[in-house]
Amino acid sequence: MSDYSLRPFAWSDVPAITTIYRHYVDNTAITFDTEAPGEEAIAEKYAGLKKLGHPLIIAERAGTVVGYAYASFYRPRAAYRFTCEDSIYLDPNETGRGLGRIMLTELLAQSKAFGFKQMLAVITADTANSIAIHEKFGFQRVGYYTGVGFKFDRWHDIVHLQKAL
Ligand SMILES: CC(C)(COP(=O)(O)OP(=O)(O)OC[C@H]1O[C@@H](n2cnc3c(N)ncnc32)[C@H](O)[C@@H]1OP(=O)(O)O)[C@@H](O)C(=O)NCCC(=O)NCCS
Repeated sequence: MSDYSLRPFAWSDVPAITTIYRHYVDNTAITFDTEAPGEEAIAEKYAGLKKLGHPLIIAERAGTVVGYAYASFYRPRAAYRFTCEDSIYLDPNETGRGLGRIMLTELLAQSKAFGFKQMLAVITADTANSIAIHEKFGFQRVGYYTGVGFKFDRWHDIVHLQKAL
């Protein structure tokens, strides 16, 4: 049995989300943000997601926030409104223990229930575990973009994976 539990986002989660995301901004090219947003910017972003009613999931273990996931518009223009992009970020101490699988399962279910028809994952090309988990869930590689990100003094490629919901 897993000792993780999932629940909807609450405003009190903003500091934990900010801390988790900062780790990936500051130390990895998994995200192409180069400056970590503060709590105010995170709160503003999540207010937008909440207003749209998009899936926004928090994972806890022993009462502590250990990850978050959301699905929102792949691109803002209206004809894309049935196509979402997923984001899952776990506390770096909680990776590799099956939580990603739990969160992606729930995110896919909530995204389908919301009415999204396609999910895209946009992944930095050398992020093997993220590509692996998406492929295990039936995502197909549909695109490869070379040298579109520049972070930590080098160019990064991205992969697009897609799944019909
Ligand atoms: C990507 C992430 C969500 C995956 O969640 P996780 O709980 O760490 O997932 P795991 O490491 O247990 O791996 C999931 C699956 O991929 C497999 N896997 C992991 N690394 C792999 C690799 N290098 N090659 C092949 N398979 C791999 C695991 O065996 C597992 O499969 P299984 O459930 O069938 O055993 C999580 O590591 C994370 O938050 N990473 C940082 C942020 C990020 O990259 N987010 C994705 C952006 S959408």
